[in-house]
Amino acid sequence: MNISVVGLGKLGLPFAFFLASFNNRVFAFDINKNISKQVNHKKSTFVEPELKIYIKKYKKNVFFKNSIDEVIDETDITFLVLPTPSMKNGSFSNEYILKVLMKIAKKIKTKKKKHFINITSTVNPSSCVKVFIPFMERNGLVNKKDFFIIYNPHFIAQGTTFNNLKKPDILLIGTDNKKSEKKMLNLYKNIYKKNIYKLLNLTEAEITKLSVNSYITNKISFANYISEISENLKDVNGVKILDAIGNDRRIGGSYFKLGTKFSGPCFPRDNKSLSFFSKKIGVNNYLPESVDKVNKKQTERIIKKIKFFSKNFKGKISIGLLGITYKSNTNVILDSQSYDLIKKINSKVLKVKKINYYDNYVKRKNYLIGNNKINYTNNIKILVKKSDIILIMYKDKEFFKLKNVIPKKKKIVIDCWNLIKNLKKPYIYSQLGKIN
Ligand SMILES: NC(=O)c1ccc[n+]([C@@H]2O[C@H](COP(=O)([O-])OP(=O)(O)OC[C@H]3O[C@@H](n4cnc5c(N)ncnc54)[C@H](O)[C@@H]3O)[C@@H](O)[C@H]2O)c1
Repeated sequence: MNISVVGLGKLGLPFAFFLASFNNRVFAFDINKNISKQVNHKKSTFVEPELKIYIKKYKKNVFFKNSIDEVIDETDITFLVLPTPSMKNGSFSNEYILKVLMKIAKKIKTKKKKHFINITSTVNPSSCVKVFIPFMERNGLVNKKDFFIIYNPHFIAQGTTFNNLKKPDILLIGTDNKKSEKKMLNLYKNIYKKNIYKLLNLTEAEITKLSVNSYITNKISFANYISEISENLKDVNGVKILDAIGNDRRIGGSYFKLGTKFSGPCFPRDNKSLSFFSKKIGVNNYLPESVDKVNKKQTERIIKKIKFFSKNFKGKISIGLLGITYKSNTNVILDSQSYDLIKKINSKVLKVKKINYYDNYVKRKNYLIGNNKINYTNNIKILVKKSDIILIMYKDKEFFKLKNVIPKKKKIVIDCWNLIKNLKKPYIYSQLGKIN
């Protein structure tokens, strides 16, 4: 099948190659010309496991074009994977999508053939029905005759994009007519053999996308709440409590573990957008608001721990961060737990001499976050040597190397993810979810 993809960023580029891997001819366009240049050199502009392999293997099926007109010419279905930045009130901006829809509308008029427009970006509920369809109609086109709007988002996380695309639990297909539904099922039938399709109307699909992620943030904030309770009681281990709760099948253990705040390009934004939407239609938004409030408090828990252990050292302390991105296998730092911690460290909160970091996915020597300069070290042994208190900020098997580094003097390790479980002297090993 000939398919076009507009917007080749962190989701769009892997998605284009994923489609190409099923023998589709993919016509791709992005205003950023660097992307196609990098791909032509078999590189990618960001860190994503498997992307380079996909580029190498399936480049022959991906055709980069210089304009939206060209990709519309080649196909009758276009996926829009464009940015939808969050606005101050928590809702998503449709600005990028509308700009592209304007061009698509002009092209459809001259092409005089029907076109399926698949919105893959995350959007506010009701955007398709109340914004995109009327917009196309105002541009002289007839819905369900000249154009068909479909809402078909994907649940992926940076660092596991291909795995998530390959094995989704559900696939949301939001349409307003049978033709669009048929088109989508036909497109996906070669990709997904299991019946994972959730056939919804446009608004239902938009709400479902946000709700899935928002529900996960509920779980994470609840787990963090239980961890914090545990942390304030003697002889109580949050890990054991969360494990027990998570083994109840009504609850389930996924995302119900010891950890830090939720972050990254989806969870916080989707939760806030759902919150904004419900308030707008007169439904109270206490639940997503509280989840967000709990999330914002997580950095304080970590600072409290660092403060407690800083008593072991005279004068200012050096902090070592194992990981500054929001998770393993990505270079996205946006709003990560480390990012927030670094931003919040100041002389009133903690007396800090230096912040060192080690991260396999971000190797920038000079990094300024808030008012704090952070220093990159290229190996864990050096990080341990340079730091008094070391924090494990996300799960990554690299960090197990800590076990083989024996420091000459006392070092504190705060494991935010129950990753290493314990460490021998001269380390003092501490976890979130336990008193100290
Ligand atoms: N990244 C994720 O983990 C993820 C997961 C699920 C959903 N999403 C959603 O997918 C959408 C895209 O996210 P992303 O992370 O890939 O964003 P991104 O910023 O990494 O990529 C967007 C791309 O669109 C391009 N673009 C902007 N204007 C354009 C135009 N007029 N014509 C052509 N290309 C244009 C940009 O140059 C960029 O390459 C967002 O709505 C996001 O919420 C992202």
